Amino acid sequence: MKKVPSGMVPMIAVDRKAPEALYRQIYNAYRAAILDRRLRPGQRIPSTRSLAFELGVSRFPVLNAYAQLLAEGYLESRVGAGTVVSGSLPEQFTSSRPTGARLLAAASGTRPVSRRSSILRLERAPWLQGWGAFSVGQVAFDHFPLQVWSSLVARHCRKMSARSFHYGDQMGSLAFRETIASYLRTARALRCEARQLMIVSGSQQALEISARVLLDPGDRVWIEEPGYRYARDVFALAGCQLVPVPVDQEGLDVAAGIRLCRKARAAFVTPSHQFPLGETMSASRRLQLLDWAQKTGSWVIEDDYDSEYRYESSPIASLHGLDSNSSVIYIGTLSKVLFPSLRLGYVVIPAGLVDRFLAIRRAMDLGPPSFHQEVLADFISEGHFARHIRRMRVLYHQRRSALADSIRRELGSMVEVHGSEAGMHLTVTLPAVTLPARSRDLEIAERAARQKLWIWPLSPAYLGAASRPGFILGFGGTPVAEIPTAVRKLRNLLAGM
Ligand SMILES: Cc1ncc(COP(=O)(O)O)c(C=O)c1O
Repeated sequence: MKKVPSGMVPMIAVDRKAPEALYRQIYNAYRAAILDRRLRPGQRIPSTRSLAFELGVSRFPVLNAYAQLLAEGYLESRVGAGTVVSGSLPEQFTSSRPTGARLLAAASGTRPVSRRSSILRLERAPWLQGWGAFSVGQVAFDHFPLQVWSSLVARHCRKMSARSFHYGDQMGSLAFRETIASYLRTARALRCEARQLMIVSGSQQALEISARVLLDPGDRVWIEEPGYRYARDVFALAGCQLVPVPVDQEGLDVAAGIRLCRKARAAFVTPSHQFPLGETMSASRRLQLLDWAQKTGSWVIEDDYDSEYRYESSPIASLHGLDSNSSVIYIGTLSKVLFPSLRLGYVVIPAGLVDRFLAIRRAMDLGPPSFHQEVLADFISEGHFARHIRRMRVLYHQRRSALADSIRRELGSMVEVHGSEAGMHLTVTLPAVTLPARSRDLEIAERAARQKLWIWPLSPAYLGAASRPGFILGFGGTPVAEIPTAVRKLRNLLAGM
């Protein structure tokens, strides 16, 4: 049985001046809450003493009401669990009344909602529902230094002071920001200070805040085509006009962007490892992009989501590091390099915009949770972070090579593999002739999910029509030994089309 909150006092109002006896009022309120399913079977009810205290009455009416509810079968006593809502209420008791969920559906059906809320649709995506072979964004949890992490968590728990229970710095903990700033200066060639760094709930929040600060409805924004769907959603929600700019082996085609729409307000790019095709933006394209941003006064939003993982060459410096005009907003995340449930990312803000970013952020969440920032500051400064990245680079390289080999062996010329040797996913496309319909990859990904193969279809990464169907395969969380079987499964799915 699902866990239900135990012993919480339900919303009950008693009126001492009412002609109805107090015990009857309590009985009626409980009965109604049980029949409405506001109180669920198995849910523990508070002790007579606590309920009497909360209601400001003596224990007698509470004892009488509970006795009646027990006698009529609404409540039952369970050994070790106290008194709970009965698990065996007759169906006719509960089904004729509108439940909370049904009332909610009826209430929202006719009332207006914002036009903005219909910009995005929550589409079915079974490939996001599971975990295992090829799940995109899944990291190698089995290789995470859990012992070190747990001891740091325990250490921080033990030394929690009154201060750590209060609201933290709205930009993020200073110690953590200093550590991240130092990491970015050293490993990503950024020129930044801790005061320009805002800690956010993953890169997704960084995108949302950046859009609110930089963009107005109707502004045109270059997005990569194909590109990162969740970034596109943020700009669409901000009311921007999206300008899909093609990507090739050198990353975003800046000249094409200029031809399509020179005066865009911003460009969103993943230069270290284009999502999803995996190319690295060439040096000349980087310079062209910054030159365009300088000439047109546009912003460049750089999403540097998995730059730590390059296997054939050392990491490429960030666009931010090349920029001398404060035109780049740099976004990074710990979702890939540590684990995504941390929900920690950062945004490096041009010094003159820090207050605007902070004002918008304040309207959202008053600041990031502080506990894990403190833990991470130690994890990084004690060297565990750098060590973890080094180890993961070797591991992911092995996994990537095993996947590429398996694809070559099992799928041969059926697919084309895209991307430089980087990151935690690779993308395969199928020849357009094999699969003419754009949405065939959705169909296959759905069938694959039923077989616990979590491949992402490529077509949703396109704003326009996908030229070729394909799949994004995450290998970060797929051990080498499991890869051949998973690729064979994929081959059978493709062969059965
Ligand atoms: C392009 C891109 N950016 C960022 C992220 C990470 O997002 P977050 O930091 O919100 O977890 C992902 C995750 O898959 C991604 O693919």
